[in-house]
Amino acid sequence: MKTQMLGTGEWFRKANFLPMKQHVDSVPPYQREIYQKGTRGQLPRIPLHFEELQARAQRELPARAFAYVAGGAGQESTQRANRLAFEDWCIQARMLRDVSRRNLTTTVFGREWRAPLMLSPVGALGLVREQADALVARAAARARTPMVFSNQASVKMETCASLLGDTPRWFQLYWSKSNELVASLVSRAEACGCEAIVVTLDTPLLGWRPRDLQLGSLPFTRAIGLAQYLSDPVFQSHLDEVKLRPSGPITLNSLEVFYEACRNYGGSLWKNLRTRRPLKAVQQFIDIYSRTDLTWGDLEFLRKHTRLPIVLKGILCREDARLALEAGVDGIWVSNHGGRQVDGGRTSLDALVEVMAEVQERLPVFFDSGVRSGADVFKALALGATAVGLGRPFALALGLAGEEGVLEVLESTLAELDLTMAFAGCCSIEDIRATSLLRKQ
Ligand SMILES: Cc1cc2nc3c(=O)[nH]c(=O)nc-3n(C[C@H](O)[C@H](O)[C@H](O)COP(=O)(O)O)c2cc1C
Repeated sequence: MKTQMLGTGEWFRKANFLPMKQHVDSVPPYQREIYQKGTRGQLPRIPLHFEELQARAQRELPARAFAYVAGGAGQESTQRANRLAFEDWCIQARMLRDVSRRNLTTTVFGREWRAPLMLSPVGALGLVREQADALVARAAARARTPMVFSNQASVKMETCASLLGDTPRWFQLYWSKSNELVASLVSRAEACGCEAIVVTLDTPLLGWRPRDLQLGSLPFTRAIGLAQYLSDPVFQSHLDEVKLRPSGPITLNSLEVFYEACRNYGGSLWKNLRTRRPLKAVQQFIDIYSRTDLTWGDLEFLRKHTRLPIVLKGILCREDARLALEAGVDGIWVSNHGGRQVDGGRTSLDALVEVMAEVQERLPVFFDSGVRSGADVFKALALGATAVGLGRPFALALGLAGEEGVLEVLESTLAELDLTMAFAGCCSIEDIRATSLLRKQ
């Protein structure tokens, strides 16, 4: 008699231990990929736990880069509170529901997204890696995850847009002292396919950030994070008029900063050194970068200059949500800038609950600050967010492993969101939104 060697799975099936119809999703694809790579001794590049990711970044990134990304305002109490707020809410696991077919897709401003997850605008990423925003755009395209271009990006929006393919992109605006520049940035954003303008309201002035202050480090003085300005015709057209102010005694350090600014400015290094145009650009930027006298009435100007949806980022209370509704904007983004502006401020998650109560279903409400995992995304969605932004995790992963690092963070977050959804008995984003979280006493 001829014996036949059977593979393990086949043997089990023949012996009737496994049903013939396998559940294809019993190990979702990204989780399976990680385990498969594990059998070959290949481990994830990026620590899956945020604390570990941050600890590794601290060991491996240049001190100024780590300080800028990890740092927050003052004693960083808002930043810590953002995290603790997530622990106040619990997800209720549910049993015996058919969760074999799950769908993470959602529609935002009429456009289908792979999932309600996006990359929050993060400026000055040039500190952590060369070509930073371009690498982020490549990863976003591979993960089909929308990207919000920062006004303080290190690679201009047109380049990032060309790398994104069909993946949605928005533009985040810091409202500068020059309305002419605002209009120019917005029209460029429209031209490169941005689908919304996000106006960040919480940074009329830069926060008090001890980690950067301790190192005397502000990326913009090295022309890091100025790509949207340097590539702008309006910004450039005023540079010739700039009269450089005296900058104090020349030291080795000031020469190094000047040299780096000349390198980051782009074009001929020799010409930059000779004309000192990069210094003029830095000075002009510092003079105009934001307005402390902006009021609700100014939004009218933006409305006149764009047909794109306008989203206000930084709304943290019921009253401002009501004013946003009255101003006729198209979306609200609840955020405390990851605790980088106000120390001892309220947490973004608590603000989300309050803002949702005011807004009801009248506007999409986006959310970020403290999101570290798929379970966190689930919680923010269950509390009413339309979509959720990821910030520091992708910035640190970019520093550690470039494009692949950002991709890993995105795929891990999405995989965990998918699994959490299954455990909570949800099959769609609508199901998540209809789910109630439990509040710890
Ligand atoms: C290093 C860094 C740079 C940032 N730059 C910007 C920016 O240019 N524009 C903006 O609107 N928000 C900026 N933010 C805020 C993020 O968009 C987001 O609100 C914040 O990262 C959320 O907090 P989390 O990263 O702790 O989750 C920045 C945040 C970090 C950490």
